[in-house]
Amino acid sequence: MAREIQEMELPLQPESGDKSYLTITFGCQANEFDTEVLAGMLESLGYRPAASPEEADIIVVNTCAVRRKPEEKVAALLGRLKSLKEKKESLIIAVGGCMIQQPDVAAELARRFRHVNLFFGTHALPRFPQLLQQAQVNRRPLIDIEENGDCREGLPMRRSSSFRAWVPVIYGCNNFCSYCIVPYVRGRERSRPFDEIVREVRSLAEKGYLEVTLLGQNVNSYGHDLDEGRDFADLLEALDRIDGLSRIRFLTSHPKDLSPRLIKAMRSGSKICEHLHLPAQAGSNRILQLMNRRYTRERYLELVERLREAIPGIALTTDLMVGFPGETEEDFQQTLALVEEARFDQAFTFIYSPRRGTRAAEMKKEEIPADEKRERLRRLARLQNEISLQINRTLVGKRVELLVEGKSKNNPAMQSGRTRTNKLVHFAAEEDLTGKLVEVEITAAYTWYLAGKLLEPAKAPA
Ligand code: SAH
Ligand code: SF4
Ligand code: F3S
Repeated sequence: MAREIQEMELPLQPESGDKSYLTITFGCQANEFDTEVLAGMLESLGYRPAASPEEADIIVVNTCAVRRKPEEKVAALLGRLKSLKEKKESLIIAVGGCMIQQPDVAAELARRFRHVNLFFGTHALPRFPQLLQQAQVNRRPLIDIEENGDCREGLPMRRSSSFRAWVPVIYGCNNFCSYCIVPYVRGRERSRPFDEIVREVRSLAEKGYLEVTLLGQNVNSYGHDLDEGRDFADLLEALDRIDGLSRIRFLTSHPKDLSPRLIKAMRSGSKICEHLHLPAQAGSNRILQLMNRRYTRERYLELVERLREAIPGIALTTDLMVGFPGETEEDFQQTLALVEEARFDQAFTFIYSPRRGTRAAEMKKEEIPADEKRERLRRLARLQNEISLQINRTLVGKRVELLVEGKSKNNPAMQSGRTRTNKLVHFAAEEDLTGKLVEVEITAAYTWYLAGKLLEPAKAPA
């Protein structure tokens, strides 16, 4: 039983009143993008963004299931939303995304949180407007986790920025890394049509967008499921020719599929940023094999070398995990050694978290004590932080281009922007330069960010 929908056709009519919505997003960029679609749908139904949770007539929570922590945060949030619902009976609460797409989770949550009106999985996203209208008249919570409705072209969207945009190129994942829930909750790989993507990016550039980030769990497998004979490198080359656009980024690349053609496209494309996020996960071949990553540490390090040769100044970032089932101190030492050798600009480090239904969750293991896992994470972070700081220090005195994102989060007197290598730089400026390309000189380096001095206020886009 996946679906609990009444067979009833409801006309989709915009709300006539002054109704408002609030979205809350957990998880990765794919989810941030999905929330932009949900917001677009709500706005085409006549809702406007709410100023506060108390004001909202609809609250949509977009969930993540990649580790236990984001799931716990969702549960805590749903608990807190109960009091809002008690104060305002007409409030509609809808919970969607990866956590909901897992078998039985929505039913469990529906029992636990009776104030939620609608649970919808990742595949139900295109059906959200209909589901919402049904949920409004239903007494019982509505659950839709059916795996269909894959066509996502032409959906409304409310982009959260006017100068940088997410552009999905491939949905789903076929890799089944043994620890990972994503292939189960996002389905098989589906590439978007090449021409659709080019058209979308061209239209973004015409609207004044300067940066696009192409999204996919593994962008390198883009196109394999299309009969077009064109792959991700071809796509990058086509997008690089679009006038008005300044920066092209993409996430995430799987090392096993990083082709020489892609490296070449990165080298020759003037808009393709000198940054690559290339998750390594671990440094021990034994663990990599158990993770079903399908590369060795040697192969990974060879890729790093090739990238550095081909694209001078490229910044490399990665994801690393500690405490995978059966990881020994020796295995962990190999991860540390990989970090020393690869010299990443930054690494996102995680403690392995068993996910229901994945192969790793079933693996026999001598349980690594929780303290030991935390200690490994600390040792890893300490090493990486030193390296990040060393690399950042080499940038002091250099001139770099920034795309300004807005006021600095911690100091509103400062503004922040990103270099092409995706480093965060804070600087002072009189006028608001949000959404502009500027030139700064780096004046100081820290582990997580840089400080800069504005040289040239606003540069015309390339
Ligand atoms: N498709 C991307 C991102 C997947 S999720 C990729 O292949 O890299 C982002 C990161 O979360 C992963 O790179 C991994 O480091 C981490 N992650 C995934 N599953 C996890 C789990 N069960 N426990 C801990 N970390 C996990
Ligand atoms: Fe998960 Fe691996 Fe797919 Fe990334 S490539 S989403 S880690 S299964
Ligand atoms: Fe989380 Fe789903 Fe992204 S599980 S990391 S929101 S694909």
